[in-house]
Amino acid sequence: MSTLVPPPDFPLRPALIDALQTRFAANCSTALAVRAQHGRDESVFDVPPPGAVVFAESTQDVVDAVRLAGEHGVPVIPYGAGSSIEGHLLAVQGGISIDVSRMNRVLSIQGDDLVATVQPGVTRKQLNEELRDTGLFFPIDPGADASLGGMAATRASGTNAVRYGTMRENVLALEVVTAQGDVIRTGTQARKSSAGYDLTRLFVGSEGTLGVMTEVTVRLYPLPEAVSAAICFFPDLDAAVQTVIQTIQLGVPIARVELLDGNTVRMVNAHAKLTLREEPMLLMEFHGSPASVQEQAETVQALASEAGGNDFSWATTPEDRTRLWTARHNAFFAALQSRPGCRAVTTDTCVPISRLADSVRAAVDDANASGIPYFLVGHVGDGNFHMGYLIDPESPDERERAERLSHDLVARTLAVGGTCTGEHGIGLHKMDFLVEETGEGAVDLMRAVKRALDPRGLMNPGKIFRMR
Ligand code: LAC
Ligand code: ZN
Repeated sequence: MSTLVPPPDFPLRPALIDALQTRFAANCSTALAVRAQHGRDESVFDVPPPGAVVFAESTQDVVDAVRLAGEHGVPVIPYGAGSSIEGHLLAVQGGISIDVSRMNRVLSIQGDDLVATVQPGVTRKQLNEELRDTGLFFPIDPGADASLGGMAATRASGTNAVRYGTMRENVLALEVVTAQGDVIRTGTQARKSSAGYDLTRLFVGSEGTLGVMTEVTVRLYPLPEAVSAAICFFPDLDAAVQTVIQTIQLGVPIARVELLDGNTVRMVNAHAKLTLREEPMLLMEFHGSPASVQEQAETVQALASEAGGNDFSWATTPEDRTRLWTARHNAFFAALQSRPGCRAVTTDTCVPISRLADSVRAAVDDANASGIPYFLVGHVGDGNFHMGYLIDPESPDERERAERLSHDLVARTLAVGGTCTGEHGIGLHKMDFLVEETGEGAVDLMRAVKRALDPRGLMNPGKIFRMR
């Protein structure tokens, strides 16, 4: 289990700070408040902040920051929206945070090809805003309004992944600044390619450890002709999960199917000022032609009724739907607010669909026995759910108990062929789980790739795995 001891601070040498300030002027900051803001995310870890923050406005800025860092032998850590849950952006070995949030232009929208190219600081909501009049949308929606660079770097997903896939399926091409400060391109705008090693997929999910993404080309989708969102309450979690399992096994092309337990609905109600019944709930959405939407909904309603679920209640207007989905996207923050001052030890396991009911049941039984407050939300159509243990950060005992719960949940997940992280990434928190999941041999191969691309170990070091 990873318990992290904050390392000593790593001040940057004055010569490097001078060089950064000469090159970046006001776009380089060493102010403590700015560094602190770039040295903390939604994880439970507290480590000293980076030594400086560079606000990059162009690929050339990233190149120059990476080269200066290289000349002085210090790490660089890409920073997008700061919404990581796993410690990705923490400066565990010091260095320079490269904030790409000002690289926030949508560079091209090729509607006819269903493709857009964006700078890495563009957020998911911003992209959809810019797509508003095109009849197209970008489906990937982590809870936070994350940046596309960060989402690509963590191979993120969200509520639509059951129908539209994750960043793995939806990133077609990248521009990347390598550890040497060179600019390379991977992939094309074509839907598929057999051209050599798939470097796009090597960088997608590499968590900033191999290079800094400076452009991301993603797939877009036509807005569905018809959309219906429905809520269904169940007598217990098991009934809800069984409904989902059968929905997936029957091949119903459901667009979204999210599970919340009653306790999490209570948190969401308080935060979003809703009055949902505080019972196990599925929040669903169906996309397609009007006839197809109706058919999908009827099929799932029949499965739900058989499992003891009530009649669907429908969110018919776009405003009602947006309210519900916004509430769902904010569930993590609603949970944090339910226990003021708490931090969340968040799990992200994903199991083969037939194992989901057992997995949820065991996770809930374990959490209830522990007495630690928690939330439970899940992208259950994918077999992916989050238990978030809401701990008092000052209590080593709570921290240890939460880590034990997390560890046991992952152990059960791996035993049935699942993964320790469906969408949040390894970061700092799951490094030991990665070894358990994939074995030392595979992690050694990852280390070899890291050494080949980043021989001096300066690209977001200390994440995903420990070097030997
Ligand atoms: C969510 C985040 C925690 O599903 O992944 O809300
Ligand atoms: Zn999630």
